[in-house]
Amino acid sequence: MQLEGSTVVVTGASGGIGRALAGELASAGARLILAGRDAGRLGAVVDELPDGCVRETCIGDLTDVADRDRLAAAARRHDCAVLVNVCGGNRFGLLDHQSDADVDALLAVNLAAPIQLTRALLDHLRRRPSAMVVNVGSAYGAIGFPGYAIYCASKFGLRGFSEALGRELADTAVRVLHVAPRATRTSMNSDAVNAMNQALGNAADDPEQVARRIVAAIRADERRVVIGWPERFFARLNQALPGVVDRALGQQLRTVKRFATTHAQEEPLS
Ligand SMILES: NC(=O)c1ccc[n+]([C@@H]2O[C@H](COP(=O)([O-])OP(=O)(O)OC[C@H]3O[C@@H](n4cnc5c(N)ncnc54)[C@H](OP(=O)(O)O)[C@@H]3O)[C@@H](O)[C@H]2O)c1
Repeated sequence: MQLEGSTVVVTGASGGIGRALAGELASAGARLILAGRDAGRLGAVVDELPDGCVRETCIGDLTDVADRDRLAAAARRHDCAVLVNVCGGNRFGLLDHQSDADVDALLAVNLAAPIQLTRALLDHLRRRPSAMVVNVGSAYGAIGFPGYAIYCASKFGLRGFSEALGRELADTAVRVLHVAPRATRTSMNSDAVNAMNQALGNAADDPEQVARRIVAAIRADERRVVIGWPERFFARLNQALPGVVDRALGQQLRTVKRFATTHAQEEPLS
């Protein structure tokens, strides 16, 4: 997919990965429509970018249909060629520490919002000579991890959506790319998550590395990207021999529970 001169919509552009991605896309010559909930944070991202590459910004909650429709209208107006669904959140903790509202909110932002936004833009994208939908999932969209039950449900769902839609659109010029980052140093991860990852020896990437990999995958028309060697291996192992991964994660459960319960009260729903 050619990025130079193409209009790209980035949701979650006010967050860590979205912000880095906006920078990489601007360097690749793309025109940008940037979406986020927080006007101040999104404005700071725009200020860092070269003049003229941002065509429009859209402030709103993408779990809200009216805000989503506003973004879709802006995307059509600027003849968007690529939609990158980055926005998302997490609330690390055991399932019985999550409220009804937590469950609904996480599934809405991580799963329903990207599906609905994609659906709203599909007619437009299909009419273009080439187009792409990029869904930013997670390594936890292929490996169920304790303390992440709802997050995993949403990201497994996003991966399934991406695969099915990609196959559904195989006879069109719209490509679907699913990217699964591993732990990334952004504010989505609370102190408890960072401390747990350190205790378990889980590697973490900088958002700039993730953004560069996403842009390379868009340019190369890739379909599936899992970032990180052990994560790629464990995703495959989990599919082929889930019992082996059950046992490996069983040995980490005490550590996960220690961080999930001692820090449960301070976890934000981001
Ligand atoms: N960080 C990681 O370890 C990691 C690992 C794998 C995958 N990912 C995935 O990468 C994506 C980006 O994560 P990140 O680390 O960059 O997180 P982040 O820094 O917390 O950014 C999240 C972004 O999503 C936006 N957002 C959240 N809820 C929203 C809503 N209801 N409506 C509209 N926008 C909303 C936020 O907007 P405001 O800031 O304006 O509210 C922000 O721009 C997520 O899908 C996440 O699941 C992250």
